[in-house]
Amino acid sequence: MALRNTTTSYGSIAKFLHWSIALLFLAAYCAVYYRHWFTETKTPANMTALHLHLSFGISIGVFVLLRVIWRLSNTVPDEPPGTQLEHLAAKAGHIFLYVFMIAMPITGYIGTGLGAEFFYLFHIPKFEETALFQWLVSDTLGLTFKEFEKPVDFFHKDIGGALLVWILIIIHIGAALFHHFYKKDNVLTRMLPNIKYKNID
Ligand code: HEM
Ligand code: HEM
Repeated sequence: MALRNTTTSYGSIAKFLHWSIALLFLAAYCAVYYRHWFTETKTPANMTALHLHLSFGISIGVFVLLRVIWRLSNTVPDEPPGTQLEHLAAKAGHIFLYVFMIAMPITGYIGTGLGAEFFYLFHIPKFEETALFQWLVSDTLGLTFKEFEKPVDFFHKDIGGALLVWILIIIHIGAALFHHFYKKDNVLTRMLPNIKYKNID
């Protein structure tokens, strides 16, 4: 299987990054909503769910960085047959997904007044303790962490987390299924792992 994208299909590295990030999104959502719905504040389960959310979120940040580099250094498969409006909608949808894939981990990290226990393997210091916070937020913007945190949290929790990302992902999955079952083109299969079945008889 080709590592790089071709004009007809995504390569194995792009597929690996796409599906790893999709699974990490699911895990980050499960952890944070498990915390909200099934745990009491400040219990060990409540804190573990939070640190898992932070760990999955930070992992998404790292994977997205690799994905953007890979995307910029690769061919993109040709657009499937369709109207100009369909092509525009697909492009806009992918751009918005990239915007949130980048903005959610950043706003999550810089808006959290707590360091992360990264899968309980090592500690990642909170943003407030970093030289970047001191230089950018404290010295340049003249803000305290509490003042800075408010709009950042609003974006992370109320705009991105609660509503927009879900809507975007649901439209994205709907579009993939529409292509596969209605238009019957290769848009979904060119992003799926190439599984070769062995003939057993
Ligand atoms: C793509 C990555 C991420 C996604 C999709 C995501 C999504 C969410 C969602 C849906 C919520 C709940 C919003 C609500 O209150 O209804 C949330 C809360 C939160 N996120 Fe993230 N997040 C991500 C990354 C991060 C990162 C990297 C950090 C920090 C290192 C972080 C820290 C937090 C914190 C502290 C909360 C509040 C927890 C709580 O109220 O229980 N997030 N996030
Ligand atoms: C069950 C879940 C998902 C399915 C079935 C799915 C399906 C697909 C398919 C078929 C493509 C290829 C589109 C094309 O060739 O034009 C694609 C691309 C893409 N997907 Fe998904 N996807 C899923 C989840 C996600 C999630 C959770 C995200 C991000 C939050 C995401 C972000 C993207 C992006 C940005 C692209 C554009 C390709 C690129 O440039 O990397 N997908 N997806």
